[in-house]
Amino acid sequence: MDVFRIEGPVQLSGSVALSGSKNASLPMMAAMILAPGESSLAGVPRLSDIAVLSELLEQLGCRVDRSANGDLRVDSTTVDNPVGDYEIVRKMRASICILGPLLARCGRVEVSMPGGCAIGDRPINLHLRGLQALGARIRVENGYIVAETPKGLTGKEIFLGGSFGSTVLGTANVLMAATLAKGRTVIESAACEPEIADLANCLNKMGAKISGIGSPRLIIEGVKVLRPAQYRVIPDRIEAGTFMAAAAITKSELKLRNCRLDDMMAVVDKLRSIGATVERDADGCVVARSGAIKPADITTQPYPGFPTDLQAQFIALLSLADGNSVVIEKVFPDRFMHVAELNRMAANLLKEGPAVIVAGVKKLMAAPVMASDLRASAALVLAGLAAEGTTTVNRVYHIDRGYERIEEKLNPLGAKITRESV
Ligand code: UD1
Repeated sequence: MDVFRIEGPVQLSGSVALSGSKNASLPMMAAMILAPGESSLAGVPRLSDIAVLSELLEQLGCRVDRSANGDLRVDSTTVDNPVGDYEIVRKMRASICILGPLLARCGRVEVSMPGGCAIGDRPINLHLRGLQALGARIRVENGYIVAETPKGLTGKEIFLGGSFGSTVLGTANVLMAATLAKGRTVIESAACEPEIADLANCLNKMGAKISGIGSPRLIIEGVKVLRPAQYRVIPDRIEAGTFMAAAAITKSELKLRNCRLDDMMAVVDKLRSIGATVERDADGCVVARSGAIKPADITTQPYPGFPTDLQAQFIALLSLADGNSVVIEKVFPDRFMHVAELNRMAANLLKEGPAVIVAGVKKLMAAPVMASDLRASAALVLAGLAAEGTTTVNRVYHIDRGYERIEEKLNPLGAKITRESV
């Protein structure tokens, strides 16, 4: 198992190219099931989550590989085993995004029920309700969801909001299934995340008829067939936000390339309010901080609100603020595994229900810490860059799920991170 040894504090400088979006790539890879033949996606990051979904697609009957230029090719000519195995789904919850496209393509699918994870229960009731509305018969058998469409899928008006707002992968599942349904589907309270807009744009390139893209009301006119496509995924806004926080926590200036600021205005707004500058340029932006970190209050929300996937990294940043901040988690109220670990690094965080009170401290101190989930681990790396001494982050495999060799991007900028196998 790999660990990181991070020497701090460091100052960063220079320019870094960000990868394509993991969360856009995953449902888009699943979407290729809908169009028999070979599709290719440019910009898909080399991450363990992508490898897991590739393996799952291969189990279904597809062929997945990288072409010489790095594009990810999915050949879905054959899909003859519509089963999402427990052994794979338990490794990555996002595997559930095969449910909608498999149902539309094969008329029957079995996918292991995803369990909970480090950030909470994570139900899939809305995915199932949406697919049932399109005509699927769904039951749970031996831990597997068995979905069938004896009469095919038929378009419907569906309200997809839940107690925590919209659902990203639930929207992806229903949207993908609806592209091949008979007639018109309207998804109300659809997720507006840029990754869903990107998926919808990709589906349209494959011949789907989706309008309202980027809004909470998606309208899908069902078509008979979709065709394979070539498509480039959008840049990863969560990786971008993590590097922005890295610049801010280390009092540095960084240029981010392949970054779409328009997808990140809630994050940019918070960075500015804590005293960082964010300037747009041709291919991305320049982020810098020189003065003190001002405290800020953050509430996570579905897009266009502040993303839950950057909550942990911003708690790390605010832990060095000149004053007290409050961070409220409205998407995954239990997503606070990093709090106890950051406190081990001399942060002063108090968790109270779905909120954390962040009392700013003058400095963080190195400690051995445990990565618990993808974004929580990124927060520990950021804290390690700013802390005095050598921080050891255990269970780095969590970080590798969502960041392409993060140490190889941070070290040329001035970080001192070594990866060791223990
Ligand atoms: C996706 C992202 C994840 C991000 C999350 C929220 C991917 C691969 N993952 O996860 O990184 O943190 O969006 O932006 O894109 N809910 C229900 N019932 C459901 C589905 C969800 O109650 O059927 C609840 C969840 O428990 C949560 C909220 O809705 O409280 C949002 O979850 P959702 O948007 O579905 O997250 P994911 O799509 O799994």
